[in-house]
Amino acid sequence: MFLEINNLKKGFGQGSSRVEVLKGITCDIKKGEICVLLGPSGSGKSTLLNIIGGIDAADSGYVAIEGEKMADMTEKQLTGYRRKHLGYIFQMYNLIPNLNVKENIEVGAYLSDNPLDIGELLNTLGLYEHRHKLPNQLSGGQQQRCSIGRAIIKNPDILLCDEPTGALDYNTSKEVLKIIEQVNRKYGNTVVMVTHNDAIKNMADRVIKLRDGMIRHDIRNEQKISAEDLDW
Ligand SMILES: Nc1ncnc2c1ncn2[C@@H]1O[C@H](COP(=O)(O)OP(=O)(O)OP(=O)(O)O)[C@@H](O)[C@H]1O
Ligand SMILES: [Mg+2]
Repeated sequence: MFLEINNLKKGFGQGSSRVEVLKGITCDIKKGEICVLLGPSGSGKSTLLNIIGGIDAADSGYVAIEGEKMADMTEKQLTGYRRKHLGYIFQMYNLIPNLNVKENIEVGAYLSDNPLDIGELLNTLGLYEHRHKLPNQLSGGQQQRCSIGRAIIKNPDILLCDEPTGALDYNTSKEVLKIIEQVNRKYGNTVVMVTHNDAIKNMADRVIKLRDGMIRHDIRNEQKISAEDLDW
């Protein structure tokens, strides 16, 4: 088993204001899979992603990566694990304003044992000719591609994406989804992608729907289509 999520529970708040957000989530995500996580606002998608990423801790249950439970790791091991094995892409690109494209991507390679070749990655991302530009000289799609580069340069086992196209229009969203697909094909990273956009499930190998803190659907998509052919 690659990424195992077992009976994960998480709530926030105390006493009468306590809300149970995840009420027992169990699933296994295979290596190299694109997994799309759908669900209404407030259903716990980001909470789940943050626990998988070791940013937040569960109340009970566990996440294990290749048999290693994250909760058993010391803070130091967890930090090392996150650095080496996890890449994050958020809705907001969070680029460093006074670093150019190439430098922003190189930030992600910091402390990696085995970073990807920066020139090749810039080409894959379609950013080679923009490599000396600052973030405010880029379009939204280019900024998001740069943030994908920053997440992917250390060649993480798992790429966690929280609404990576949430701030983008149709064409730019497709461009970004194509890059995520291409990166998954080329480097074999496991992708867990949260989205509000139902159409995006069609490019996934695996579709998980959350509602009220529980998994309501967990299906394998046998008729996966390429990001290029998505329509909404
Ligand atoms: N740190 C926190 N403290 C208190 N409540 C929180 C915290 N983080 C999340 N919540 C609550 O947990 C619930 C689930 O939040 P979460 O961000 O996981 O939802 P989501 O599915 O990602 O929603 P969206 O689609 O709007 O991003 C929400 O009701 C939210 O208010
Ligand atoms: Mg969210």
